[in-house]
Amino acid sequence: MISKAGKTKFQIDLRRHLRENYVNENLTHLICEIAEASKYIIHSISTGDLGVAGTSNLYGEQQLALDVLADRILRKRLEHSRVVANMMSEEMDEIIPVSPDCDGKYSVAFDPLDGSSLVDVNLAVGTIVSIFEGCDLLQPGRRQVAAVYILYGPRTTLVYSVGKGVHEFGMNMLREYTLLKENLTLQPQGNLYSPGGQRNLYTPGVEGFVSKLEGRGVKLRYSGGFVPDINQILLKGQGIFIYPHLQGHPLGKLRLLFELSPMAFLIEQAGGAASDGHRPILDLQPKQIHERSPVFIGCKDDVAMAEDFIRRLE
Ligand code: AHG
Ligand code: MN
Ligand code: MN
Ligand code: MN
Repeated sequence: MISKAGKTKFQIDLRRHLRENYVNENLTHLICEIAEASKYIIHSISTGDLGVAGTSNLYGEQQLALDVLADRILRKRLEHSRVVANMMSEEMDEIIPVSPDCDGKYSVAFDPLDGSSLVDVNLAVGTIVSIFEGCDLLQPGRRQVAAVYILYGPRTTLVYSVGKGVHEFGMNMLREYTLLKENLTLQPQGNLYSPGGQRNLYTPGVEGFVSKLEGRGVKLRYSGGFVPDINQILLKGQGIFIYPHLQGHPLGKLRLLFELSPMAFLIEQAGGAASDGHRPILDLQPKQIHERSPVFIGCKDDVAMAEDFIRRLE
């Protein structure tokens, strides 16, 4: 792509790309602030304390020092951005009000460090951000105006959508995010699967679905990090990730507001699908901020097949 300014696409940085997608100034500023915050998170991951923080979050998960540090980095950036009304994160117990007026402002739900327990074994981790217009965070994910994730892997990449396709940026030598790929797209069916949760706790419909996939000869790819596992599906253009309802855990593990909604937004923008096993993730109306949901996300025909097995066998 040659931008209107005649730059080759590899020189198009995030701010220019957002402007060329007619993203308004406040949302452009917000997404660029999230990108800036990621540079400090990278530093904290590579040099920070790998120990526990001695506290736990609302899920009863032991917080790592890095969870708390990444949360603080993003929270400070958002508080000072002048365009945030409310925010919440995996590591906060409730919604934090930032500004009383909603006009021209955004509300943000984020997972500051997804897969944090993987840092000490040096596997890829990420940051996930969901953005709504105005003050309300308890909305169906379909009303998001943007979703962003940053993947801290062998390379640091940022993927975003404002509802006009899904685009990938890479961090260059100058620590700027410049365009790598535009309009990431998924094919209808894949040959990769990421089966989360414990297989011995799979319910009959999920077990039937996974056995059917395996019968098709699909390859298992599961890193334990939601961001790299979803990024693989987007960049390879195929695959399905599941973290299903399990016997004894009807809601699975992943959180709706700051993990499933933003990733479902991106995957649907890339022509894929994301379901809780019965209905689209993006149509779920959250009742409380820390809600969990089962998830089947990736190639749309594979997601439809999972729903069909669940409908017939459960
Ligand atoms: P977080 O580190 O933000 O708490 O999220 C971890 C999540 C997600 O990254 C991943 O898909 C899932 O946990 C893996 O769960 P298991 O360890 O049970 O496989
Ligand atoms: Mn956690
Ligand atoms: Mn997470
Ligand atoms: Mn997390």
